Amino acid sequence: MAKVGTPQTSPTLPTPAQGVRWTTPIVETPGIVVLASWIWRLTRFLVTLPFRFPVLVATVAVSFAAWWWLDWPGLAGFWATAAVASLVWWRTWPDSYRRCVPLRVLAWWRHVFVYRRHWQPVLVISGLAESYQERRYLPRIRRVTCDTWADRVRVSLVAGTSPTDFETRVAELAHGFQAPSCRVVVDGPRRITLEFPRHDTLADPIDALDIPDAVDLAALPVGIREDGSPWLLRLHGTHVLVAGVTGAGKGSVIWSAVRAMLPAIDTGTAQVWAIDPKRMELSYGRALFAQYADTGEAAVAVLESAVEQMQHRAARYAGKRRSHTPTAEDPFVLVVLDEVAFLTAYHPDRDIRKRSENAIATLTSQGRSVGFAVLAALQDPRKEVMNLRNLFPDKVALRLDEASQVDMILGEGARDRGANAHLIDPTLPGVGYVRMETSPAPLRVRAAYVSDDNITAMTDVYGVEEA
Ligand SMILES: Nc1ncnc2c1ncn2[C@@H]1O[C@H](COP(=O)(O)OP(=O)(O)OP(=O)(O)O)[C@@H](O)[C@H]1O
Ligand SMILES: [Mg+2]
Repeated sequence: MAKVGTPQTSPTLPTPAQGVRWTTPIVETPGIVVLASWIWRLTRFLVTLPFRFPVLVATVAVSFAAWWWLDWPGLAGFWATAAVASLVWWRTWPDSYRRCVPLRVLAWWRHVFVYRRHWQPVLVISGLAESYQERRYLPRIRRVTCDTWADRVRVSLVAGTSPTDFETRVAELAHGFQAPSCRVVVDGPRRITLEFPRHDTLADPIDALDIPDAVDLAALPVGIREDGSPWLLRLHGTHVLVAGVTGAGKGSVIWSAVRAMLPAIDTGTAQVWAIDPKRMELSYGRALFAQYADTGEAAVAVLESAVEQMQHRAARYAGKRRSHTPTAEDPFVLVVLDEVAFLTAYHPDRDIRKRSENAIATLTSQGRSVGFAVLAALQDPRKEVMNLRNLFPDKVALRLDEASQVDMILGEGARDRGANAHLIDPTLPGVGYVRMETSPAPLRVRAAYVSDDNITAMTDVYGVEEA
């Protein structure tokens, strides 16, 4: 009997030391099976064709029938009737015509001449498919659809690959198909959609949005997303950090949020406490704020007073309720901090730095469920400057200086997934990336620009003059 732990070798199999290599036997598929498979594919293609392209098949069939039975005049008559019918459709229902006809033609065109044509080289070069020979292992395009701003390419993945493989190659895919960006949407098991915008929908500034009639503090409209839908910012139940170099447009995010809250400020169910060390950003709308501070000492006093009120409220709620509903008695309090690093890193007085850091840490770690939120702006996201950034659950990355700062703000892997905040054009202030709870893929957004005139109008209507 062999001793335990002694490797046993079969006397019949050669050992690697003898220099013989073991290779998997190659079993050739019989020709008849290959032929049957091709016939099956052809039959399936012909049978499903009328269901996949009904208008195309009907048009070809009717053209052929008109030519067969009525000769050339019949064919010409059919096409003339089709042209008149299209014209009538276009004049009567222009929207539905534009949606159906030009976008479908465009989708077909882009499918054939852009995506199918470049699919294999782009995927192979970007490392998403094995080699030019192995077509079996090439992810398959299922369908291409177009709307007014983007192409959507539905893809079936090959077994063994995951949507993350695509998410980390979005830059290569965008370049490969000459799109400004690419986003990966997971549709289901082994199914994804690649979204390629055809042009930059955020290139033009957005005017200040209309003040909503009813305020939803969990979804304040502050700008638009790349697909044209509203960018809704959650403030109640979270804290938000907005990072970006000087001139990136942090002010527009802050002001858009304040603007969207105005009716709640008016009814007293929400308050904004503003800290404005630069005295440039928020002083203009001072009349809208329940508290305002522009010096280090005053700022710490405001922060510590917020902590005190928060703890008082928490003590009242203890054992009675676990969440906060904004009311005039217990309003939602938003502490807005412009250039938070001034207080936590740059202020010359060590005591001010320490006390502000403590107050911000207490507010961000305990304020969420009792109706206190912090909205902070920051130029430099490095740890030496702002070591509290992880206490902010939601973050917005506007234009940043360095690629390494993207993941500092949006979390690990955000840059790989296409959040190129360091490449944002300096002529596009207010453009940035956010991560939504629903998807790990970052979204490109642009904040609406609230001008000085807008702020004046806001303070005229909603402001309260100091006594
Ligand atoms: N959303 C926007 N759309 C268009 N233009 C904008 C937008 N936001 C800002 N701008 C323009 O960019 C300029 C700088 O913006 P802003 O003052 O908000 O930058 P910032 O990030 O707050 O910079 P700083 O850190 O120096 O305060 C503004 O004066 C305005 O002209
Ligand atoms: Mg600013």
